[in-house]
Amino acid sequence: MAESMKGLKRSYRCAEVSEAHIGQTITVMGWVQKSRNKGGIIFVDLRDRSGILQLIFEENDCGAVYFAKAEKLRSEFVVAVTGTVEKRSGAANTQLKTGTIEVRAESLRILSESETPPFPIEAGSKTREELRLKYRYLDLRRPDLQENIMTRSKVAILTRRFLAEEGFLEIETPTLIKSTPEGARDYLVPSRVHPGSFYALPQSPQLFKQLLMCSGYDRYFQLARCYRDEDLRADRQPEFTQIDMELSFVEEEDVMDVNERLVQTLFREICGVEISLPLPRLTWKEAMDRFGSDKPDMRFGMELKDVSKVVKDCGFAVFKGALEAGGSVRGLCVEGQAGMPRKKIDALVAFAKDYGAKGLAYLAIQEDGSYKSSFAKFMTEEELAGLAEAMGGKAGDLLLFAADKDEVVYNVLGALRLEVARQLDLIPAGQWKFLWVTEFPLLEYSEEEGRYVAKHHPFTMPMDEDLPLLDTDPGAVRAKAYDIVLNGTELGGGSVRIHQADIQSKMLEVLGFTPERASEQFGFLLEAFKYGVPPHAGLAYGLDRVVMWMVGADSIRDVIAFPKVKDASCLMCEAPTPVEDAQLKELGIAVAGEPAEEEKES
Ligand code: AMO
Ligand code: AMP
Repeated sequence: MAESMKGLKRSYRCAEVSEAHIGQTITVMGWVQKSRNKGGIIFVDLRDRSGILQLIFEENDCGAVYFAKAEKLRSEFVVAVTGTVEKRSGAANTQLKTGTIEVRAESLRILSESETPPFPIEAGSKTREELRLKYRYLDLRRPDLQENIMTRSKVAILTRRFLAEEGFLEIETPTLIKSTPEGARDYLVPSRVHPGSFYALPQSPQLFKQLLMCSGYDRYFQLARCYRDEDLRADRQPEFTQIDMELSFVEEEDVMDVNERLVQTLFREICGVEISLPLPRLTWKEAMDRFGSDKPDMRFGMELKDVSKVVKDCGFAVFKGALEAGGSVRGLCVEGQAGMPRKKIDALVAFAKDYGAKGLAYLAIQEDGSYKSSFAKFMTEEELAGLAEAMGGKAGDLLLFAADKDEVVYNVLGALRLEVARQLDLIPAGQWKFLWVTEFPLLEYSEEEGRYVAKHHPFTMPMDEDLPLLDTDPGAVRAKAYDIVLNGTELGGGSVRIHQADIQSKMLEVLGFTPERASEQFGFLLEAFKYGVPPHAGLAYGLDRVVMWMVGADSIRDVIAFPKVKDASCLMCEAPTPVEDAQLKELGIAVAGEPAEEEKES
């Protein structure tokens, strides 16, 4: 039977006990990691979130009653033990922080018993993730996950402290808001009071934080829960947390400055890494030209080269055709890989095709200076030599080329650069390559919708010198937008906002909003902008992604206490589930689609 805590007080967490406490009588509480009965002497490893402490039960010290109780201990029993701290009698355990001490138990209370858990509670679990997620509360007892969750808490606390010292106010914004179709798909919440009407869960606090600027709270931040109904990946969850901020009376430089210092502080305090400031910057165009990515991984080279000029008159129809259609020909030089087997090259071609390439042309510069190539027959020896030279290729190198629209070429070579680097193990560990990417395009043309859509969001300010282009060449307008990138991941992004009603109207017009629709969607913001709005700008980080990098997690699920899986469900509580007819009726909702699988089966 479970015993009570009456009269007991925990003195320390397990791994807080040290040699400094030798001779003291202490009380510790936690879970039994394991218990070994060596006949007459019982060793118990006690675990809590700080770590493990060895306890020793001997009948002489604790008496027959407690000894008999200790014999019953099994893994995951919750116990309270009072005893004396001693130097370890056996050999020290160098794996443990408390490896040189033990606690000689004098009394024991079993606070809770445990069934045998479905998997062992240990670091580096080999148990499949589905089972661990079903029993997440047990999974969360594992030391590696506890470390991640504790780091996450530290990041949140340090962020709050840093921003408060910089004069930011923490303000909550609502999570039942109006649906706005820009961006990802919204999660909707039906209203009972207004049948047929829905709230949306916020994709970010964007509009509200801008309104807070209108209201004079000139520096705001929030650790904001955001919801996006989009396809999930290793670094995306349907609900995630942003470190979200907005500042008034500032320009890009001010936002970047405070954020560089925030990032520097966090990485210093948590990872012991000193990031030197200012962070490097690349314009979006330069990032794309050199790395084929707007979130370049700068831990290694292998940059893209534009060889369009070199091949413009060559005899290879693939290259010429792409150039004539307004595209480009660009390549990667993979050093020392001229001997890459055909099969591996073919796999790279297939990889490139997955990223939208029509093909991938290659040119291997053999050690004797001759070429092995998929297109040598279409080119003269001089043309090939010119191409190799333009690529900076030497004997022994493998050159890979994509020819297409710029967008496709960037996409293909950007992905290929990372893939080749991974395969050849070119990415050094232990490096923290931060940078800002700036001057993003303001708009993107959506073939699907037949109109321009905002690349960041509709409230992002165009660059001053590009304003006239809004009328003549909207696709060429650059934005006062910036992303902060770490080792090839977008950690955060933000922009200077439009605070002038006329520019905002123009922007919405370019995005294809009629004045009526604009007012229907964002009327409250446009209205607010009539009453004195300060110039403002902001940024938001994905907190989950920041923590992922800090702890070196491969999956975003490893830094979230109760995450969802790829199909956006929770394996533990089984959300989402069908609801009772009565609930639907109350909401005035009828389900038209296929019933869920479980329903079909029952
Ligand atoms: P953005 O949409 O770029 O900007 O989001 C900011 C950051 O949030 C993180 N993020 C995600 N993390 C986990 N799962 C997701 N599904 C997910 N989606 C985004 C990324 C990203 O960089 N309101 C603007 C910010 C601003 O302009 O101030 C915004 O939301 O790390
Ligand atoms: P083909 O003439 O289609 O047999 O192509 C000759 C070579 O060019 C093959 O190695 C193809 O993979 C490659 N190739 C085809 N299309 C492209 C392209 N758009 N960009 C780069 N290489 C290509």
